[in-house]
Amino acid sequence: MCGIIGYIGEKNCVPILINGLKRLEYRGYDSAGIGIIANGNSEIVKNKGKVSLLEHKMKDLQLYANLGIGHTRWATHGIPNEINAHPHSNLSNTLFLIHNGIIENYRVIKKELENQGYHFKSDTDSEVLVHLIDRFLTLGFDLCKSVQLALNEVVGTYGIAVIYKDEPDKIIAARKGSPLVVGLGNNENFIASDVSAILAHTKQVVYLDDGELAVISKDNFIVKNISDIEIEKEVHEISTTLEEIDKGGYSHFMLKEIMEQPESVRNSMRGRLLPEDGTAKLGGISEVVDRLVNSKRIIITACGTSWHAALVGEYMIENFAQIPTEIEYASEFRYRNPIINKDDTVLVISQSGETADTLAAMREAKSRGALVLGICNVVGSTIARESMAGVYIHAGPEIGVASTKAFTAQLVVLSLITLLIARRKNLSMAEGKKIVEALNSLPDKITDILKLNDRIEQLAEKFKDANNFLYLGRGYQFPVALEGALKLKEISYIHAEGYPAAEMKHGPIALIDENMPVVFIAPKDSAYDKVVSNIEEVRARGGRLIAIASENDNDIDRLVDDTIKIPDTVEMLRPILTSIPLQLLAYHIAVKKELNVDQPRNLAKSVTVE
Ligand code: G6P
Repeated sequence: MCGIIGYIGEKNCVPILINGLKRLEYRGYDSAGIGIIANGNSEIVKNKGKVSLLEHKMKDLQLYANLGIGHTRWATHGIPNEINAHPHSNLSNTLFLIHNGIIENYRVIKKELENQGYHFKSDTDSEVLVHLIDRFLTLGFDLCKSVQLALNEVVGTYGIAVIYKDEPDKIIAARKGSPLVVGLGNNENFIASDVSAILAHTKQVVYLDDGELAVISKDNFIVKNISDIEIEKEVHEISTTLEEIDKGGYSHFMLKEIMEQPESVRNSMRGRLLPEDGTAKLGGISEVVDRLVNSKRIIITACGTSWHAALVGEYMIENFAQIPTEIEYASEFRYRNPIINKDDTVLVISQSGETADTLAAMREAKSRGALVLGICNVVGSTIARESMAGVYIHAGPEIGVASTKAFTAQLVVLSLITLLIARRKNLSMAEGKKIVEALNSLPDKITDILKLNDRIEQLAEKFKDANNFLYLGRGYQFPVALEGALKLKEISYIHAEGYPAAEMKHGPIALIDENMPVVFIAPKDSAYDKVVSNIEEVRARGGRLIAIASENDNDIDRLVDDTIKIPDTVEMLRPILTSIPLQLLAYHIAVKKELNVDQPRNLAKSVTVE
């Protein structure tokens, strides 16, 4: 979703802002813009569409400035066009603002400002902020105070950066609900919505918290809270490298991230397995582990792919740790007055750690006294910082909008949590050791699955023109069916549905004809025989059958048109293996349809609005 970058220092900010915006492209956006202030001049350049277009415009204009802000917009209020793109400016074009989030009471404020003679150019909610700040400036307040006073009047969420021609020695940034990070350099400082935008320049960062405002100059920064009291902030050193956020020779981030899974899965369990005891140790939750083990109930809340990981977690935890477990869409959970008790544990899963609904659900659970644990990928993200304890999945930066390596790493972490609880309860050491062994052998098995890439590409060629797909699985493979269908629709725009295989009879079977590819996730597990019956049912109706099957399964070939055979593992970990061919299938279909795999239309990597 919208991205923010700002620079103040001694260099020309234009290439820094453009490159920063390129690094933010993965978040999803539809327009981009830059505002700069130099030698008493102030200029905004913006356009609908790609950052590369903005780059061309900037090259033609040959602009130079030491102070500037840049933005990628993901439309919420007002269509994607040049006028609605950020920065927004006051009427005299001296004050520029970029905004992530939503100003909920913008209509009321807009009306008031219009009555006072302010003219609005755009249809956005964001524009009210710039005029509101301008109103306080004209009353004689300085920029910092004017921003504070304006923010006092707004209801909603924001991450903003503001620059002003009459105070060209600072950027003012403020956060409520939308992430912001200050980057610290030598005689230069940065503001960004995400560290990847500034990683090429600095690794020293300060995360702003909700309700905080930063005054950033080229050699200093001050952070204040709502009551104008200065706050000491910790400087963090980020470990992410530039190579990690580059494509590394792959044609798309998504393919790179799929191919990285032997390593990301290894990283997600590195140092966390205790083979001798057949269990796991998780430093991030060691202080609350007794409370977790003794939970009466576990609720897992998340959105999107992370929600699918949560569903697998439910099977794992109920089977092995024997704690009743419920899975909740974060967006529903936060609004439906959920029953949460003090002896419940709420696990919050989020790759980005910034998803607005998940964050709100987490805060709700915390306020009701549950133990709240975060399972995040992005280090220093809001959910990671605000949860009471947590486990990082250590998948490394995930740039492709469609989540792949984060999903498998989330499953590994859920299996470690399950193992840890189960061993403290009634799982035998021998059983625990089997799981540890199986975890250890996952990376090699994933490497073998990735060797099937060419075969899966052939399948993609065969099925790329289908208009619909059905994905079916049972037990642990039901969430994998949902995830396989989600991957396909996210990036290929083919309508796809995931269903529990047996439920097919209650509706989807009506859709089956010779044009409908049906992907069965059918490893040799406890549900295998039943899944075979479901395959027969589809076959009898002429559906085009594809199966993800175990490598030792010689019977399935006669039942289906195409099989992808993969190595086997213990039941609890099978989704980590079965999901990978489905990621590759979706990827190759989208590439063959010549679609933008890494930035699919309308989607955002990090959904920071409700
Ligand atoms: C967006 C992304 C999905 C992701 C979901 C939840 O919709 O496009 O890939 O699964 O948000 O994101 P989170 O960062 O909370 O896991």
